[in-house]
Amino acid sequence: MSKKYNVAIVGATGMVGNEFIRILEERNFPLKEIRLLASGRSKGKILQFKGKDYKVEELGKDSFENIDIALFSAGAGISKEFAPIAARSGAVVIDNSSAFRMEPDVPLVVPEVNPQAIKKHQGIIANPNCSTIQMVVVLKPIHDVANIKRIVVSTYQSTSGWGKEAVDQLWQETEEISNIKHQTSSIKVKDLKLKAKKALPYQIAFNLIPHIDIFMPNRYTKEEMKMVNETRKIMEDDSIMITATCVRVPVVRSHAESVNIETEKKLNAEEVIDILKNTKGVEVIDDPKNNRYPIPIDSEYKDASFVGRIREDESVENGINLWIVSDNLRKGAALNAIKIAELL
Ligand SMILES: NC(=O)c1ccc[n+]([C@@H]2O[C@H](COP(=O)([O-])OP(=O)(O)OC[C@H]3O[C@@H](n4cnc5c(N)ncnc54)[C@H](OP(=O)(O)O)[C@@H]3O)[C@@H](O)[C@H]2O)c1
Repeated sequence: MSKKYNVAIVGATGMVGNEFIRILEERNFPLKEIRLLASGRSKGKILQFKGKDYKVEELGKDSFENIDIALFSAGAGISKEFAPIAARSGAVVIDNSSAFRMEPDVPLVVPEVNPQAIKKHQGIIANPNCSTIQMVVVLKPIHDVANIKRIVVSTYQSTSGWGKEAVDQLWQETEEISNIKHQTSSIKVKDLKLKAKKALPYQIAFNLIPHIDIFMPNRYTKEEMKMVNETRKIMEDDSIMITATCVRVPVVRSHAESVNIETEKKLNAEEVIDILKNTKGVEVIDDPKNNRYPIPIDSEYKDASFVGRIREDESVENGINLWIVSDNLRKGAALNAIKIAELL
């Protein structure tokens, strides 16, 4: 008889929390008991799991009694306070926040890339940033063959990456805008003065915001530096040069990335396509003749990291351009964490 586990979800009412529930159902995880935790605001709220009602409990110091695996997705502050408590009470924590990712004794794991790292855990395992996960799954097999020396990445990140309040902002702004009678020839979107509550620094509907997370002293954002530092840690190679620009876009779900790499060994586009077609967790959609390439709305609720627009960078010796799209809530968060739990 196979063993079954008691699992707690911290942040069960959030965007990632919802996805945890959906994926645990879909993958038939060997569950004995599920405990759904959130803030006091959600205490008593009913969520469904496999057709049964479960009451959301308020997170507290006693929430982890008899829990084997604790999936955290309630922000870094909550993780810093409660993940050590969960680990001390015997649970293995898989944390979606940035709280522990760069701690030397905390493994930062993408199961398709560095599953071996999991063995070193001391109670807490970190799940990487969403934009990093979908990129490293694609780049690792190329690195293994041709040694990537430099990565230049520009992201187009969906609003759900900033949680449920950001998604509400996008929908409300879009609704407001659609109710405004406009004259195509003279419209100035800034003058619309939308009333929707802002979770993001600026209006996101009909706009782009080159600002994700806080600004750092080096003028990069924290999100951009997460891509730099986490990629090196997961690929176990500090020599890779990486620069990132992260942009929020008015897409509900799924991040897209334009990725330019320079390799030591020359690869042509067909060789890269061949490598990626044989990579677990990656799906190649690359058919320019038929206008086929990955787009966010096609990758919603799917498990793969989709890659297309694969072509040689003709401005350097050994360069390749790629376009990578993946569901940030799924591949970039909940699915990766549950695959770590399955590895455990
Ligand atoms: N969204 C993504 O694509 C993504 C990807 C990777 C990692 N992450 C990380 O996952 C975490 C959650 O992101 P999200 O997008 O799911 O955010 P979200 O939709 O805003 O949900 C936040 C969750 O945290 C809970 N929470 C907030 N304050 C709490 C408190 N004091 N005690 C207990 N629970 C509390 C909320 O509960 P209430 O409903 O009760 O407020 C809610 O369940 C963040 O650390 C984020 O960086 C997100």
